[in-house]
Amino acid sequence: MCGIVGCILKDKEKPVAPILLECVENLDYRGYDSVGIATFDGSIHVKKDKGKIPEVDEKLNLADMPGNFGIAHVRWPSTGVPSKINAHPQLDQAGTIAVVHNGSLKNYDELKGELIADGFKFKSTTDTEVIPHLIRKYMNEGFDLEHAFRKTIERLDGSYAIAVICEEENNKILATRYQSPLKIGVSDDAYFISSDIPAIIDYTRKIILPAEGEMIILDESGVKVHDENGNEIEKETVLIPWTAQMANKGEHPYFMIKEILEQPDAVEFTLDEMDNIRKIVDDLDNIKNICFVACGTSYHASLSGKYLIQHLAKIKTDVVLASEFKYTADTLDEDTLVIFISQSGETLDSMNALRIAKETSPTLAIVNNIGSSMTEEAKYTIITQAGPEKGVAATKTYIAQLTAIYLFAGLLAKDDDLIEELHKVPNYIREVLEKSEEIEVLSKRYSFAEDLFYLGRGFSYPIALEGALKLKEISLIHAEGYASGELKHGPLALINHRVPVIVILPPGSDYEETMVNLEEVKARKAIILSICAEGDGKAECKSRDVFTINPNVSEMVAPLVYTVPLQLLAYYVTLEKGHDPDKPENLAKVITV
Ligand code: M6R
Repeated sequence: MCGIVGCILKDKEKPVAPILLECVENLDYRGYDSVGIATFDGSIHVKKDKGKIPEVDEKLNLADMPGNFGIAHVRWPSTGVPSKINAHPQLDQAGTIAVVHNGSLKNYDELKGELIADGFKFKSTTDTEVIPHLIRKYMNEGFDLEHAFRKTIERLDGSYAIAVICEEENNKILATRYQSPLKIGVSDDAYFISSDIPAIIDYTRKIILPAEGEMIILDESGVKVHDENGNEIEKETVLIPWTAQMANKGEHPYFMIKEILEQPDAVEFTLDEMDNIRKIVDDLDNIKNICFVACGTSYHASLSGKYLIQHLAKIKTDVVLASEFKYTADTLDEDTLVIFISQSGETLDSMNALRIAKETSPTLAIVNNIGSSMTEEAKYTIITQAGPEKGVAATKTYIAQLTAIYLFAGLLAKDDDLIEELHKVPNYIREVLEKSEEIEVLSKRYSFAEDLFYLGRGFSYPIALEGALKLKEISLIHAEGYASGELKHGPLALINHRVPVIVILPPGSDYEETMVNLEEVKARKAIILSICAEGDGKAECKSRDVFTINPNVSEMVAPLVYTVPLQLLAYYVTLEKGHDPDKPENLAKVITV
């Protein structure tokens, strides 16, 4: 999705453009097709174009712009094709107001019609361009920048995080947000606004979290936040426990592999949240039903939560895709806890569902991004301690989500054995990671495939779904995750000697039935790779390949461990096919549309 940044340096002589460039580079994981910067030094300077940051930088030398303050943008198109004209910043007609915007405006057509009738001329086909024209219209009517911006915001219907600079009031950046993320950063030398913390983490860990509708004013003397009526309000500054090193690749070629390798820590740090989680569980004494709501990988973590909570706590638990939530919302009541699982805490489908759910039910958000919108809106919050995740494919945040869900379920069911077992998971994952070269070798044997199936049963069904999603989103190979007993009801017709089938076979009560399903695909000559326990002679003899896991990993905690070789497989197959695992085509890390 789009990302915005703004920065004002206290030192008037120092150019801001190199800093803005570095910050938007740090936002590139959100997904984008064009980039632009506007700075001010007596007049507004703009450089922008379609393309990846290195290409545009090579052409335009983005760091070479004068002025000690400015705004920057990476664009993921929602309205208007990717092009230089549609790239942000968008300007008013005279080029004296520059705006960057993340979000989308539902009523831009109507506003555009009105502005055209008033004589304003449009250059782009973006929704954003109405914003600088509206600000100019109100400034022409005699309002100062802050009031003109406020009147503009009142006219917008949609989601937005917006930052503005203006030639007439040339010492400040104004910004605001509604249903789109925006943070304020404070350092000794500069003030920032940014869509996401990793963009500015190299400069500061001191963050202020503006609420929806608040107006942010950055100037050389500091940060002011005004409420909707223009009154200045005090805001708390929080110290983010993330470091710049956590948000950088370090010696690793890609974020994805760095983040896969960080998973033992993600589990350990999330286990440290046990006391916080216990307080929430204690407060939820009367809950009769649970409903998980999530998208993508977070949906798969939720599905594991359903299996676990039903099994251990015997509480009826549903899982609903956030985009489908409104169709089941009528069945909610005050006895149903609605749990939102999200890495970003910003996914619009989940946010929309949260806003509906909180009308009737207690809500809990399990998110990784500190200060994200879901933490503002949900009644209870658990922060997973995976640190910043930049690869588009969720890996360590998924394992951290599972850790938080398993802790929650274990505490809810007062199951000390599960809690004890969870503390062994970091070492089980380390053992898998130590054998990652085996997966690298296997990836060469499976990258030829055009279609793959992943099979699992019970606790292993979400593992199959997640393994397939990882592979398809980054390697672009078609993959399906199936409940292994369901295969015979249709998809078995697609199995033949060219189709690899990956079978998730942890030891436990589902083993024998899953083995029957393995036999079914073997009879159709499928190429079988089993993920099974060390010493599982049966699986070894019936599969072409096996990857083995510590036999002490029970089927109940298998999602936390058996998923890891599948992440590695997706990663290595993607490299084998020559794709970038961090930035798959057409996907963004944070989906706020
Ligand atoms: O930030 P969220 O967890 O709410 O995001 C949900 C999905 O968009 C996300 O999990 C997506 O499926 C990932 N790319 C999967 O790797």
